[in-house]
Amino acid sequence: MKQFFIMKRLLILCGLMWTMSASFAQVRTEKFIKNWEFSRDKQEWKKVSVPHDWAIDGPFDKKWDMQVVAIEQNGEKEKSEKTGRSGALPWIGEGFYRTTVHIGKTEKAELLFDGAMSEPVVYVNGKEAGRWAYGYNAFRVDITPFLKVGDNQIEVDLKNVEQSSRWYPGGGLYRPVTLILKNRTSISDWGTYMRTIDANTQWAKLSVDTQVDGVEQGGNLAVEVSIMNPKGYVEIAGHSGVKADGLVHLDMEMKKPQLWSPESPFLYKMVTRLYRDNQVIDEQVQNVGIRTLAYSKEKGFQLNGVSRKFKGVCLHHDLGPLGAAVNKAALIRQAKILKDMGCDAIRTAHNMPSAMQMEVYDSLGMMVMAESFDMWIYPKCKNGYARFFKEWSDKDIENLVRHHRNHPSLVMWSIGNEIPEQWSEEGVNISKRLQDICHRLDPSRPVTQGMDRVESALKSGFAQVMDVPGFNYRVHKYDKSINQLPVGFLLGSETASTVSSRGVYKFPVKVSNRATYPDGQCTGYDTEYCSWSNLPEADFYMQDERPWLIGQFVWTGFDYLGEPTPYDGYWPSRSSYFGICDLAGLPKDRYYLYRSIWNTEEHTIHLLPHWTWKDRKGKVTPVYCYTDYPSAELFVNGKSQGRLTKKSTLQPSSSTSEKALNEELLDRYRLRWNDVKYEAGELKVVVYDKDGKQAGEEVLKTAGAPVAMKLIADRKDISADGEDLAYVTVSLVDANGVEIPDASDSLCFEVEGTGTFKAACNGDATSLEPFTQPQMKLFSGKLVVVVQSTQHKGNIKLTVKDQDNKKIPYGTITIATR
Ligand code: GAL
Repeated sequence: MKQFFIMKRLLILCGLMWTMSASFAQVRTEKFIKNWEFSRDKQEWKKVSVPHDWAIDGPFDKKWDMQVVAIEQNGEKEKSEKTGRSGALPWIGEGFYRTTVHIGKTEKAELLFDGAMSEPVVYVNGKEAGRWAYGYNAFRVDITPFLKVGDNQIEVDLKNVEQSSRWYPGGGLYRPVTLILKNRTSISDWGTYMRTIDANTQWAKLSVDTQVDGVEQGGNLAVEVSIMNPKGYVEIAGHSGVKADGLVHLDMEMKKPQLWSPESPFLYKMVTRLYRDNQVIDEQVQNVGIRTLAYSKEKGFQLNGVSRKFKGVCLHHDLGPLGAAVNKAALIRQAKILKDMGCDAIRTAHNMPSAMQMEVYDSLGMMVMAESFDMWIYPKCKNGYARFFKEWSDKDIENLVRHHRNHPSLVMWSIGNEIPEQWSEEGVNISKRLQDICHRLDPSRPVTQGMDRVESALKSGFAQVMDVPGFNYRVHKYDKSINQLPVGFLLGSETASTVSSRGVYKFPVKVSNRATYPDGQCTGYDTEYCSWSNLPEADFYMQDERPWLIGQFVWTGFDYLGEPTPYDGYWPSRSSYFGICDLAGLPKDRYYLYRSIWNTEEHTIHLLPHWTWKDRKGKVTPVYCYTDYPSAELFVNGKSQGRLTKKSTLQPSSSTSEKALNEELLDRYRLRWNDVKYEAGELKVVVYDKDGKQAGEEVLKTAGAPVAMKLIADRKDISADGEDLAYVTVSLVDANGVEIPDASDSLCFEVEGTGTFKAACNGDATSLEPFTQPQMKLFSGKLVVVVQSTQHKGNIKLTVKDQDNKKIPYGTITIATR
């Protein structure tokens, strides 16, 4: 193969010359198809904008997915009625989308679905053009044979079968649909693959593979790949002729590359051009990053040659009140909240991420474990993916890898979560097969999966097969298992599953793995977990003390729709309690516990519980402080409650006892004043650094009567693109501006100007108020209103009224759309 390499500066010139001497024929066009009509019965159609989730408007009802089942993962043996297991929203059944697109003369047309929930069948001008089974995967449909010049009808039929999910999957075209028009001879979509072979700050070796389709159409074909920095300068380029098989390989070297990392997510643009007889006939532009990954017994996980442990969280795909419909602003907000906590990694549990999500993580800096399946052959729920596994799994893994392998944020693939086949030879073989597909399509990343049946997986060899063995929970089994793992390291692929409700505190405070209460809430003291799971401290401790642990992914970063454990059988309860943040994205207390350990750049001083109690005068009301500082003194109305120091060398009586890991380590990471008696007034903590110097303080005050409303927007300026969002947090305050932590007033919302009301959410897992109606009750004193821009520049005005207390003046806030 003819191959050229040209180094930097010179290159810019040569690259330009190459381009200048060439002319552009019609190259590809790619555009999202946003405007669709939607129907549940093909009788009544309404206009919708895609991404769209047909079920998120509700209403919530236990009837939608009532199941009489034993949840094996929860250790249940007897069947019982489960209600909000998949969100108590109307996602089951059929849904239909149709649109008309005008297409002129084109040689080739493709539809790219980034995911469609689920079992999509695509029709073009009445004929079936393609189908897929799994709702979470991206797939492409070549629609060329079905097209005519002019208007073309596209229809997508979707079907969600009952009992096909363990959580809320959403329904519909919930991720973008892209129409790609290009020449018959063109760069294959997903055919360009760039990877870093080796890199340091002085030099990088890159490899680029490209697949050209339609080579048989003839002509003198060549591919040029240029890598440009954000200013648009070509840093490096290479080109090569195209052989009959259409495959092109380039090895490239770059001097002084800027390496990608979560702390410095530097992106280059890779432009791939296809030439025929010196004329550009196709062009693809992708963001890429340069970084190295290594996993070893000696050094654990290394990014760019530096060992680090994953400070990760698992995320389901729903975006709380927006449902499954993907939205860039919502994803950015999530990532920023998590980054401020010190989180540097996401596990896309338990399915393929959207391209939009990956782009956000590339640019903001989050490492990603991209997952695929929650089950293989043996079902975890009656009609789950097990129905498709045999026929579709290889294709699904192939699409996952080919679609996402250029994202620098992606650091490992996951082929499964708590797969029932862990004990069997069949399971070992499937693991090998799926892992091999990943390796073949992407030799640059390791493969993992989350295992929960530790002994079985070790006995069958299932765990030993994996590049990165991942254990879900079972922290007390880590020490017994590590010597049986030839790779010599272990990942906490799913950890904690501590449960809590934002701003709710239960007394007396106790550590429990089975607590439930009549109100369907969990305590905010972060002392409750499930029979199979643990408190954050068990993971902190093991990660701190065991060099062979390469990090953890906490279940979960945000609450999600469905799986309301420990209230699976309690109605109304329809969303999770596992989140570090609630369903509205508001941090629970636990957020600050993780922040105090994970965020090493900024200090954390957080006190709990709130200090406005009507009926606790003189009653024991424990106070916790989550801080990175080692010690602190607590005061109630100026009276010292004593100075405490974290017991940083505290060890559990046994590292193989679940109880010891959960109960004996709290004072290593939290400061706890367990005997404080409540008195209205002021609660103050003064923190001290390691040298004993006073370093800061935090004050909580008892709130008086509410007199005003407080509105805070996450952004005051959003794009006038019809998609951007601002999240406004609403609370009530007293005359001194102190928030009323237990307010539950019903509020209503009006939006004027260049925006619309999108949704509201208060984080209450037991609320049946629909997200998309402009009224909602405060929960633990707060809720979030989401407003969306129109395509007009101007101002959005949100007005919030208290429907229960008419004396409180309206709250207003203005957000500019530009
Ligand atoms: C795990 C499972 C997750 C979720 C979690 C709740 O076993 O992988 O999907 O169900 O439990 O604790």
